[in-house]
Amino acid sequence: MSIDRNLPGGSINEAPDVRDAKDTPLPGTEDAGVGGVGPTGRPMPSFPVPAPLASHGPARVIAMCNQKGGVGKTTTTINLGAALAELGRKVLLVDFDPQGALSVGLGIRPNDLDVTIYNLLTERGHNIREVIQSTRTENLDLIPANIDLSAAEVQLVGEVAREQILARALRPILDDYDVVIIDCQPSLGLLTVNALTAAHGVLIPLECEFFAMRGVALLVETIEKITDRLNPGLQVDGILATMYDGRTLHSREVVRSVVDHFGDRVFHTVISRTVKFPDATLAAEPITSYASAHGAAAAYRQLARELIARGGAA
Ligand SMILES: Nc1ncnc2c1ncn2[C@@H]1O[C@H](COP(=O)(O)OP(=O)(O)OP(=O)(O)O)[C@@H](O)[C@H]1O
Ligand SMILES: [Mg+2]
Repeated sequence: MSIDRNLPGGSINEAPDVRDAKDTPLPGTEDAGVGGVGPTGRPMPSFPVPAPLASHGPARVIAMCNQKGGVGKTTTTINLGAALAELGRKVLLVDFDPQGALSVGLGIRPNDLDVTIYNLLTERGHNIREVIQSTRTENLDLIPANIDLSAAEVQLVGEVAREQILARALRPILDDYDVVIIDCQPSLGLLTVNALTAAHGVLIPLECEFFAMRGVALLVETIEKITDRLNPGLQVDGILATMYDGRTLHSREVVRSVVDHFGDRVFHTVISRTVKFPDATLAAEPITSYASAHGAAAAYRQLARELIARGGAA
């Protein structure tokens, strides 16, 4: 897959539009009615509310992955997770970034914890159930991380089956959950390889800006290598356009260009740029409870339904 270095409608010096898009029609939600053309330029299908599950597990594991920083991985992990939990799915989020942003975003102070994902990966004798924290959101649990995890990358290099350590650590609890989402750090190092080896699917958030596609070829190559060598069942569950501003031609053209490259792998749901997301992070709450009636919450609810409709979650 080649990188498109000639995305239309922008230049390296173009100032990002950071206006709060809350007053604009929200793409992929209310305004783009079923059958209407959505922001991806394709007819918008309907994503019905799925039936409640009769029983739980085994979980489908999703790696939230893009080695580019600040594209919305953690925001999507929290809010997709919360939206799936609202649908009655039992959801476990795994913080796999030493920055611990996912943990903090869910109201957990990871530096105060004695055991985190780091201990599960590097030491024997820990019970994963003692590391799992419940959150204020029903059906939404977390395995936290803190800065200790930054040492794991080096420590695991000499281990036997070093790429499979996370998969092995998660195995005992897979039957307890319907979905596990792993929030990766912005790198393609050994931790991310562990996440991709543990996963059934990978979800790739892409920020709607000029260089969105940069690095995606390398990510796709990494995914293909993991599929060949370590995890033949790994699928790309979808590519999600984030921080979209439908008022700018630039945002619209980036989305169209992503669809030209990746076709049906791009979610119909697109996440708008709005200050509600950083606000919700500060409040340490998912958008679905912080601003339940806002279009941003509706967008992640739609993403949850779209993921289920595609078979990316139960
Ligand atoms: N749709 C959005 N609109 C506005 N701001 C957003 C949106 N999504 C995320 N943000 C903000 O952008 C910043 C980066 O988002 P986030 O932390 O989710 O990205 P990330 O890919 O996890 O970053 P990193 O690579 O550093 O882990 C955060 O401050 C977040 O609140
Ligand atoms: Mg993050």
